[in-house]
Amino acid sequence: MKLHLIFILLGGMEVYAADPAPPVVTATKATDGKTIFQTVCAQCHGADGEGKPELKSPSIAGMPSWYVNTQFANLREGRRGHDAADQQSFMMAAIAKALQPEQIKAVIAHVEQMPMKVPTGKDREIANASAQDGMRLFQERCMECHRYNASGEMAFGSPPLIGRQSWYLEEQLKKFKAGKRGAIKNDVNGAKMVQITNFFVEDEQMLRDVVAYIMTLNPDPAASPEEQKKQVIEGSPFESAAR
Ligand code: HEC
Ligand code: HEC
Repeated sequence: MKLHLIFILLGGMEVYAADPAPPVVTATKATDGKTIFQTVCAQCHGADGEGKPELKSPSIAGMPSWYVNTQFANLREGRRGHDAADQQSFMMAAIAKALQPEQIKAVIAHVEQMPMKVPTGKDREIANASAQDGMRLFQERCMECHRYNASGEMAFGSPPLIGRQSWYLEEQLKKFKAGKRGAIKNDVNGAKMVQITNFFVEDEQMLRDVVAYIMTLNPDPAASPEEQKKQVIEGSPFESAAR
């Protein structure tokens, strides 16, 4: 998929990208987070922030503002999305650069209060993987930063891994391992993941296994958003893995 994104920073103007099923890039002068989300983000991340597999765009609903803040800074300052060969992050970087700082602040606050989307179906599946095997790696190498239930830890800058799609996690781990993410100077947090994936995620099997295990840490997709929140705070991953 080739994307030719052109931005015109005039309120209300829509610019269409070329090639198959192109996302519509809408520039906006809006300053409230909800309107910015609906006009700019929703076309790629979905109306409820659930993400879109066909664009490889992650679910972002409920993502903590401290993490999104870092990512927007990385995207704007060339630490993520700097290479046109990585179409997804390159595209996202263009969006991040097209917004004003106040708009970014507003949309980040809006995203944070959207109810997290628990991945289901294809967004949860991962072929030829063993969650059981992945559990060991997760407990030995991941939970010290991402917490035992993968709900993330602000103090370490490590984001929640629940709420993301299996294919997105897989893709990001591959990007870190290949140095396509986290390898630019001053990307202190990204560098941690480049190290982890290179030292401890030995092959694609291990990578798939750990993602399969992370999927089991998600709250019950059928539960209400309130109940899901409670499960994230109180839930034992060891129980949910056995289910
Ligand atoms: C043209 C499509 C497109 C638009 C519009 C778009 N995004 Fe994205 N976004 C993506 C893709 C694709 C990725 C995945 C990048 C990667 O693989 O590294 C992404 C990644 C992100 C991430 C990083 C998530 C993570 O887990 O690290 C955040 C945060 C984000 N987008 C927020 C937003 C917000 C907020 C808006 C609206 C202001 C927006 N995006 C608009 C396509 C888009
Ligand atoms: C030393 C702390 C640390 C350890 C250990 C660690 N991580 Fe991370 N991880 C981070 C930080 C910090 C980030 C955020 C990087 C950034 O800001 O770009 C991150 C980001 C990620 C992301 C990207 C999430 C997204 O939304 O884009 C994934 C996936 C991930 N880690 C998985 C893992 C897995 C799997 C393990 C174990 C094999 C692991 N991490 C071990 C600190 C850690």
